[in-house]
Parts: sequence; structure tokens; C-alpha cells
Amino acid sequence: MIALSLTLVASIAAHGVHAAQHLNFDADFTDKPQPFTIHVHQDFIDDTKAKTGKTRLSTDLDQPDFDDGVPSHVVSAWSRYWEDEYDWRTVERALNDDFEHFTTTVHAGENYTYPIPLHFVHHQSKRSDAIPLLFLHGWPGTFHEVAGIIDLLTSPPNDTLPAFHVVAPDLPGFGFSPAPTHPGLGLREMGQGFNDLMNQLGYTKYVGQGGDFGSHILRVMSPDFPDSLVSILSNLFNVTPNSTDLQRFANNQTTPEETALISLLTDPGFTWTKAYWDIEKSVPLQVAIGLTDSPIAWMAWQYMGMRMMTPGYEWSTEQLITWSMLNYIQGPYGGLRIYKEANREGVLDGFFPFVKQPVGVVKYFGDAGYDVPIEWARRQGNITFFSKKTPDVLGGHFPAFLNPQSLAEDCWAFWGNKTASRVDVFY
Ligand SMILES: *[C@@H]1O[C@H](CO)[C@@H](O)[C@H](O)[C@H]1NC(C)=O
Ligand SMILES: *[C@@H]1O[C@H](CO)[C@@H](O)[C@H](O)[C@H]1NC(C)=O
Ligand SMILES: *[C@@H]1O[C@H](CO)[C@@H](O)[C@H](O)[C@H]1NC(C)=O
Ligand SMILES: *[C@@H]1O[C@H](CO)[C@@H](O)[C@H](O)[C@H]1NC(C)=O
Ligand SMILES: *[C@@H]1O[C@H](CO)[C@@H](O)[C@H](O)[C@H]1NC(C)=O
Ligand SMILES: *[C@@H]1O[C@H](CO)[C@@H](O)[C@H](O)[C@H]1NC(C)=O
Repeated sequence: MIALSLTLVASIAAHGVHAAQHLNFDADFTDKPQPFTIHVHQDFIDDTKAKTGKTRLSTDLDQPDFDDGVPSHVVSAWSRYWEDEYDWRTVERALNDDFEHFTTTVHAGENYTYPIPLHFVHHQSKRSDAIPLLFLHGWPGTFHEVAGIIDLLTSPPNDTLPAFHVVAPDLPGFGFSPAPTHPGLGLREMGQGFNDLMNQLGYTKYVGQGGDFGSHILRVMSPDFPDSLVSILSNLFNVTPNSTDLQRFANNQTTPEETALISLLTDPGFTWTKAYWDIEKSVPLQVAIGLTDSPIAWMAWQYMGMRMMTPGYEWSTEQLITWSMLNYIQGPYGGLRIYKEANREGVLDGFFPFVKQPVGVVKYFGDAGYDVPIEWARRQGNITFFSKKTPDVLGGHFPAFLNPQSLAEDCWAFWGNKTASRVDVFY
């Protein structure tokens, strides 16, 4: 028993998982893709349930719900549901049945030389003309954002629409991809690791889809892989106003769309998200201490943003717990810390390289980039496809998950147009 676990620790250490990391799930990361089955350790599941049942509540004030944070009556209902109703094993079985999971170890460039262990799902299309697609989730999220859309992409309803081989990794520090063991794994280095992943799967050319950090990574990786990363469809292509824009805003000279965007960025209903970026980009461990210890606190931390950015959608408690669990199993620190790396790279201040590859931008109501004007987007990318959904179209920050049919139609329209997306390189 002891000898066996020592061997396991040694083989894991050689592949980039810190010996002291308590992943709470079975994990084996070798140097090439191999099948993976999710199995979370029973003692962790039991401890987590016990903790949720013992959640200590704050006393609510007499004020509208969510003014100060998630109200205690909501937290209390979550805590009861998690302790009494929620069954991780049922969820785990469905995740194992619904997806083809793999693990591997990838490598970035000269600036982060440690091995990067990754978990990903890979569904191949039966279509011989299918295009490899790298799907990158955002914050908060995991590979699981791809759930509703993956079959639509691999098996579109007819052969006139493009089909895709879908690769959806967990970003390092999220889901079942262990957090980096050392500082320095920024968005650029993650992109280098994901290019290595695609190459390991035999995809030397591919397209990318993502919102939030998924989109940020695709943008940051675009100059490193001008030929491999063929085109990008972003559902959150944020562009920071420049000083001329802000001056025009002060002079009442901005268009209604520009006014809406700049107003949002300075609205107290939104600036609290910047306040939590400030914590995550400076002392992520400090906030991770409490969130690692309290599953309910972690759930509430994620939910404030999820709620704001998905107007018109009611998350069920069951869904919220699963979303929280997926990032709680290994612990949220690595995922929180992505803000520190992104800040080092200037991404939180809006410094992105210009994307020369064709870029499609789709915008769903409720997401932070909804009112980014096409003229602004063109400052930062070769925009060849642009679609702003009317506010009645569900999607918000998570269109792949909440409105997969709509986002799949965007994918078909963008990558079905060879001029707009350069996909002739695949045929
Ligand atoms: C490594 O970092 C330096 C300094 O930021 C940068 O100039 C260089 O391009 C980076 N190299 C790679 C392969 O990312
Ligand atoms: C293929 O499916 C799309 C989306 O459902 C539809 O718009 C299109 O008309 C269909 N084309 C054919 C030839 O059936
Ligand atoms: C802001 O962007 C606009 C449009 O590209 C440009 O005309 C203007 O010079 C920019 N302002 C600054 C300060 O860069
Ligand atoms: C802009 O409009 C606001 C509200 O109508 C007004 O108070 C303000 O004086 C205007 N500013 C300029 C520079 O015109
Ligand atoms: C933008 O993409 C189109 C379509 O592939 C291409 O023809 C054009 O050269 C690109 N523009 C830039 C500025 O790279
Ligand atoms: C394909 O994209 C090009 C460039 O963005 C655009 O001009 C053209 O109208 C599109 N074709 C179709 C059929 O939508």
C-alpha cells in the first residue's frame, strides 16, 4: 500500500503535479493523451457534505436581496440542498457517460518550463471534412461549459453545415487540470500548452472558440501561432475605451452603444466585479483560504457574477452545486490566481495583441462586452463576422451552456464562410 502510493506520488511529480497537491480525485498524467475517468475520493465528498451542513450564516439586513452579496436565506437553502439532496456520484456518472475524457501533459515555451498536466474532452466528428476546434471555457467555468453544444458541433443537422472535432480542456487550475506548481503560467503560456495539446492530437491547424478567459487566451496566443490557429469565434471580445473615447464620453459625444458600454464599466453594479479582480490579482491565496475551506462560500463567490451575467436565466441549485464542485474538488486557488497572471500580462487592463487571423465576434445580452462597438473591436482584431443578439436571446456570459443552438448557428455561419474564416486551409 505504502509502496504503491509512493510510486504514484513519484510518477505524478515527474509530470508536473506537486507532490503536496491534494487533488481529491484519481489522476494520472503521462506524456501522451490517455483515457480518463472521473473518480472523486469518497472522503472528500463526505467532508464536503458535512461542511455544507454546518454552514454558519450571517444575519440579513432589511434590504433588497443581493445588494450586499448572496443573502443568507439563499445560502441556507443551498446548504440544506447540498447536504440532503445533492449526489455527486450521480453527477460524476453522467459526466463519465456523456464525455470522452483524457489526460496528458503539455509544455509551454521558454517562460514556463514546468510540465503542464491537462484534463480535456475530445469528441471526434464522423464527418471526413470536420475542422478541429479548440473550445476554451472562461471564469467561472470548466470544460463542462461545452456540454450542450458539443454534439451540435460534431454532428450538425445536415452536411451543408461545417462539422468539428471538438477539444475542450480544463484550463490549468480548473476542473480536473491541476493548478500550476509555479508562478509564470500566464495566458500566453497556457496558449502554448494548448497548441501542444492540439499537436499531440494530430491537429496542426485548428480554429478556436471561447468567451471570457477562453477568448482572452485565443487572442493572446494568436501571434504565436499565426498558421496553426486559423480563426477565432469569440463570445466576449472586450475592448477597453481609450482616452479619446473617455474624453468624447465626458463631452456627450459618444454613440448610444459607446455610452452604454462606458457607463457599464463605471456602474457600481459592475465595478464590484473589478473589486474582486483586485483581490484575485493581488493576493489570490488570501481569499482562497476561506473559499477552499467553505464549499458554500465558494458557491456564493461564483454565483454573484454568474447571476449578474445571465439575465433571464434561473440557475437551479443542483446546477450551481455542480458548477461549484467542479472547481472545488481540487480547490479554487489555482483558478483564482489566473487573474494575477493575466494582470501581469496586461490583459486585465485591456492590452491584447492585434489578432491578424479572421475573428468572429458574437455578443449575448448580459455579458460584459455586449455593447462593444464593431469599430472598437476592429482596433484589436481582423473582424470578419459580427453578431449582436437582441436582448431576448438567452446566452449572457455562457452561450455555449445556456443557448447552445444559437452559438452553434454562429459557429456554422462563421466557419461555413470560407472568406470570413479562412477555413479553405482545411480543404
Ligand atoms: C518570454 O518572455 C519574454 C519577455 O516577456 C518575451 O519577450 C518572449 O517572447 C517570451 N517567449 C515566449 C516563447 O513566450
Ligand atoms: C441545414 O440545417 C440548417 C440549420 O438547421 C438549415 O438552416 C438549413 O436550411 C439546412 N439545409 C439543408 C440543405 O437541409
Ligand atoms: C482611440 O481610438 C480611435 C479609433 O481607433 C483613434 O482614432 C484614437 O486616436 C485613439 N486614441 C488614442 C489616445 O489612442
Ligand atoms: C453632458 O450631458 C449632461 C446631462 O445631460 C450635462 O449635465 C453635461 O453638462 C453635459 N456635458 C457636456 C460637456 O456637454
Ligand atoms: C483578415 O482576414 C482576411 C480573411 O482571411 C484576410 O484576407 C485579410 O488579409 C486579413 N487582414 C489582416 C489585416 O490580417
Ligand atoms: C462571408 O464573409 C464575407 C466576409 O466577411 C462577407 O462579405 C460575405 O457576405 C459572407 N458570405 C455569406 C454568404 O454570408
